[in-house]
Amino acid sequence: MGKWFHIPPGDPYFCVVGSPIAHSKSPEIHQAFGRQCGISLRYERVEIPANSFASALAEFVASGGRGMSITVPLKGEAYRAASDHRPRAALTGAANMLTVAEDRRTVADNVDGTGLVRDLLSNHKINLSARRLLLLGAGGAASGVIPSLLEQNPSELIIANRTMVKAHELIERFREGGDLRAIDYAKLPHDTYDLIINATSLSLTGGLPPLDPAVIARSTRCYDMMYSTDGRTRFLDWCTEHGAAGCSDGLGMLVEQAAAAFSIWHGVEPETAPVMAALRVR
Ligand code: ATR
Repeated sequence: MGKWFHIPPGDPYFCVVGSPIAHSKSPEIHQAFGRQCGISLRYERVEIPANSFASALAEFVASGGRGMSITVPLKGEAYRAASDHRPRAALTGAANMLTVAEDRRTVADNVDGTGLVRDLLSNHKINLSARRLLLLGAGGAASGVIPSLLEQNPSELIIANRTMVKAHELIERFREGGDLRAIDYAKLPHDTYDLIINATSLSLTGGLPPLDPAVIARSTRCYDMMYSTDGRTRFLDWCTEHGAAGCSDGLGMLVEQAAAAFSIWHGVEPETAPVMAALRVR
């Protein structure tokens, strides 16, 4: 038996890997999509710590695994360990999914940005074209969604981050894609934005980005890439207190990116609304 995987013969095997992984909702989501589409599959959580991904992947492939969803802290490692890379993963240097091809080559892809944009456009009816966007954070979560946001042709995309050198690195990497600028939190002009997206890891600890509430206008929509069962996060509560027009957590992004992965793996586009509704009820 392998160290990470033991896959007895049966339905096609998928998993989500990361650390911590116990609270991941991906198995429920993929199994719900499978039931909806009449596709039998296995989908499990597998805890894999940092710096172990390459050996885990070799074992996964040898054991007959078909595909993986990848979460913190393994997205960079997963990208580097894969044999082939889809362009949208190559743009960010991070993979949130990996597919094992017939010839056992592994293909890295990144559908986080696709998930975010589908959630904003389809579920929340937030148009991004010609809008002013403010993205908080310059870590892996932020860089993963920048190409997809730029594809929507916003009038500008401002990145605010505590560590400015990281924000400037992202500007360098993505500047070809559109009007992208980095601004220090303290120097954010007292301009307002159409959409503010929190991509910092602060929501995990209940912290708040050091944001001047003057950036929120009565028409500003706010989005937290973190999610909670009731749709509220500390950041979104703060935005509501300061008069935001609407607030959305990242549950829709999670379900939409899962749907994008499901359609790549199974060739069928599942319906996301019933799955989101079921997750909210818990
Ligand atoms: P992830 O992959 O979730 O993006 P990460 O790469 O560690 O994780 O990035 C975390 C993000 O949250 C960064 O933008 C980080 O800011 P720094 O680049 O300055 O570290 C941001 N963040 C975390 N704690 C923060 C804090 N106390 N104040 C402001 N920003 C914070």
